[in-house]
Amino acid sequence: MKLASEYSWLTLIQAGDPIAIGIIDETPVWSAPFGETLMAAIHLAPNLRVLDVGCGLGYPLLELAARLGPTARCVGLDPWNAALGRARSKAQMREHVVTFQEGIAEAIPFEANAFDLVISNNGLNNVADIKKALFECFRVAAPGAQFLMTANLPETFGTFYSHFEAALEAANQNSHIQALRDHRAAKRPPSDRWYRLVSEAGFGVAAQTYHTFSWHLLDGEALFTHPAFRLSFLPSWVEAVGEDIFETIRPDLLRRLDAHARDAGGLEMEIPFLLLEAEKP
Ligand SMILES: C[S@@+](CC[C@H](N)C(=O)[O-])C[C@H]1O[C@@H](n2cnc3c(N)ncnc32)[C@H](O)[C@@H]1O
Repeated sequence: MKLASEYSWLTLIQAGDPIAIGIIDETPVWSAPFGETLMAAIHLAPNLRVLDVGCGLGYPLLELAARLGPTARCVGLDPWNAALGRARSKAQMREHVVTFQEGIAEAIPFEANAFDLVISNNGLNNVADIKKALFECFRVAAPGAQFLMTANLPETFGTFYSHFEAALEAANQNSHIQALRDHRAAKRPPSDRWYRLVSEAGFGVAAQTYHTFSWHLLDGEALFTHPAFRLSFLPSWVEAVGEDIFETIRPDLLRRLDAHARDAGGLEMEIPFLLLEAEKP
């Protein structure tokens, strides 16, 4: 749907148009701190050709397209078809050129030198082969193109993991502590590894900056019932140590998290992350 008139937004919202309401309601609480940091580092220019790798549900790409105005050409890439469907529906109402392409970062379905700006907001840390994906980002970037990525760092949820490890140790499950550490390391490369991988792909790294935000929760129960944690993190915690072990230690882990929250005035789920800024020579 295209807007009949640029003045009709309020009418659409008052009439309960689901797409208009969706645009107003769209608040990617998790992705926004990463995305706002990334967008602030963009070298703004007219006529940019932009690729968002691992664009998911369309943030920050749709917002970036709006900030760049109608001369930009923005493309989102992700293998998650259902997310792309939702992203496309959000794009419908906008004046800006934003398209979404199903595909993987390891085989980007665009020709070489096609983009002036390649971004990935917490996307490249989720691909199966980071090295291949970065070479592909380099291939599709035009000479002089800016490459910007954010990724959360190994210290993510540090307080939570220290209690998780203590509960495993108390249950004599020390062998699973290493499994948990391996799981954390696999999901969150440290900044020097990102620097090396991005440089090896051919980019010149201009800056790496460190940022952090935190979700402040009441206690362990709030954590385990929070939809974002249930959907995105709990399954991987269970997988890292096995369901039986997780069920065994869960009551003790909850007790530890609750005691911590009582002492500290809440449970901090810290999310330190990296913004890496680079350029194709
Ligand atoms: C944490 S989400 C980030 C989504 C979005 N960039 C944001 O900021 O909200 C990670 C995204 O990476 C996508 N992804 C997973 N494997 C991928 C791959 N091989 N190539 C490209 N994207 C991939 C997922 O489907 C998911 O949408």
